[in-house]
Amino acid sequence: MIQRPRGTRDFTPQDMETRRYLEGNFRSTAETYGFREIATPIFEHTELFTLKSGPNIIDEMYAFEDKGGRQIALRPELTAPAMRFFVNDLTNYPRPLKLYYFGQCFRYERPQSGRYREFFQFGAELIGAPNPESDAEVIGLAAALVRGSGLANYNIRIGHIGVLRGRLAAAGVGPEKAPAILQKLDKKMYEEARPIMRDAGMMGEDIEEVIRITQLIGPVDLLQDFPGEASDYLREVFQVLRDYGFTNVQVDLGVVRGLDYYTGIVFEVDAPNLGAEKQVCGGGSYSLTELFGGEKVFSTGFAIGFDRILLALDKEGLNAPEKRLDAYVIPTSEGMRHRAFMITAALRAEGVRTDVDLMRRNVGKNFKYADAARARFVVVVGDKEAAEGAVTVRDLSTGEQRVVPIEELPSVVKA
Ligand code: HAM
Repeated sequence: MIQRPRGTRDFTPQDMETRRYLEGNFRSTAETYGFREIATPIFEHTELFTLKSGPNIIDEMYAFEDKGGRQIALRPELTAPAMRFFVNDLTNYPRPLKLYYFGQCFRYERPQSGRYREFFQFGAELIGAPNPESDAEVIGLAAALVRGSGLANYNIRIGHIGVLRGRLAAAGVGPEKAPAILQKLDKKMYEEARPIMRDAGMMGEDIEEVIRITQLIGPVDLLQDFPGEASDYLREVFQVLRDYGFTNVQVDLGVVRGLDYYTGIVFEVDAPNLGAEKQVCGGGSYSLTELFGGEKVFSTGFAIGFDRILLALDKEGLNAPEKRLDAYVIPTSEGMRHRAFMITAALRAEGVRTDVDLMRRNVGKNFKYADAARARFVVVVGDKEAAEGAVTVRDLSTGEQRVVPIEELPSVVKA
């Protein structure tokens, strides 16, 4: 038997109903916030991701040479593609440009619960304004999406990459050495971060101060201990979030993010009941356009780990409403088969979810199948009722059965 590749998944019809339900919910929330959908290719030139994404992403990339000798990579994320698209074709759109996307990403990671090699992101990018209110707009959308999914237990933490970067620079760390340190701090791997910071020329007390900063989480007042531009900016972001009614947010100066392109605010959402892979959303502000041949334009965005939200919802016992078959049509004899097909077609034309016997089973077996398929009604097409222009309808949840004139059938099974 051929198995699917490690780290990938197949989705059953039930899985897909749940996934499409959440996707639809996310889309409509994003549109409520004035974001519009884009789509970009599943694969891109590898360079798009190696320019600025940082060591985490590069180590995990599905990259290969195509038959024309081009270096190609399956996209590990959608921010760089969205910015490439913007520089290529969207610079004439009025700004801010508010875009959202949904699609699969690929990372060669060690698979475990909540961590896959093929996974789905629902994300958004707001292009064009380096202002606290546009950052708050984006964080607000992320918060609204998570809340709107029905998830009850989650934390939203917001920081500013400028605080840590500033401390590293003040301690003499050059911009070429900072990414390796930030990568370890992002994963809270302090034992590995310390020697790298020492090698970069940092003193012991500076190292401990940086580590202390990454461990601070709390209310916005916590910023008093870190006066400066970054703190003032963050305070303004929090104020706008309050205006929008989002109060369940915390300051976390330890939010570093695994990607290198962030320049300003950074934020994460986690769902504690997911254990090790609990981060369900990550984002921040950045500028990538100048790397891709455009003018420098500031943007803010995030991506939600769609699969992780579903796992977290499942842990909380939340399921999408089931989509049931409305009617299952059973002919009682060979002679009634064509009448059954015509009735099926008429119901489908009315938008009723309808199935009909395709296996030439007897009536008893057909009823068993209708039960297993969780149909709401069975429509029995028999000779006697046909003579009266009617069918027999049985409600499978109550067992009630009655003869219904054919013209009333759609309204009866839609009820
Ligand atoms: P990221 O934090 O690398 O950010 O990924 C965003 C989310 O994708 C994560 O918080 C996580 O929920 C989910 N995720 C990441 N890797 C996996 C995996 N292997 N399996 C399942 N889920 C995963 C970005 O990708 C940025 N592009 C976000 C962004 C948009 N920043 C600005 N704009």
